[in-house]
Amino acid sequence: MRPMRLILWAIATLFLGWQVVTGPALAINVDQSYRTIKLNEAGDTTIISNKQLENGKRVFNNTCSQCHMAGRTKTNPNVTLRLEDLEGAFPPRDNVAALVDYINEPMTYDGEIDISDLHPSTKRADIWSEMRNYTPDDLKDAAGYILVQPSLQGYMWGGGKTVN
Ligand code: HEC
Repeated sequence: MRPMRLILWAIATLFLGWQVVTGPALAINVDQSYRTIKLNEAGDTTIISNKQLENGKRVFNNTCSQCHMAGRTKTNPNVTLRLEDLEGAFPPRDNVAALVDYINEPMTYDGEIDISDLHPSTKRADIWSEMRNYTPDDLKDAAGYILVQPSLQGYMWGGGKTVN
């Protein structure tokens, strides 16, 4: 029995040690009040989990942030990811469903022209290879991440348009 106990103790120690080292350091822990976001144009809301937020951040940092660092937009500083700008688009992009639509098929701000060959999109994943591996949930999480930032970061998110 003794060697067995020793093995169990060793496993438990390794596992707990691993949790202490990696758990809190990686986990996003944002209060629920910030995680309540608009789901669709009808105005339904949803609460994104911390885990989804973390995944959304991963997608955003890997694929969007080179142009949308801190919510700004390189090359078109008038169309940022601030809530006001998202709301003013046609159709309004200030909700999860419309943002996912945008990632699938991005349009000009007035909603007139399909720019999926100029902006990362799943529609043209043939040219945007980084878009090939994302699941619909990944896209939702990225949309959620974008929508949480204005209340979390305030003016810092998409702020300083003219500096861009
Ligand atoms: C190569 C640069 C680039 C990358 C990468 C990029 N974007 Fe964009 N994005 C732009 C530009 C430029 C615009 C403005 C397009 C226009 O002229 O209407 C824009 C516009 C947007 C808008 C519309 C904003 C509004 O106020 O209506 C959303 C939403 C958006 N991008 C989301 C994303 C997401 C999500 C990703 C990552 C999957 C991403 N973008 C990756 C350059 C980029």
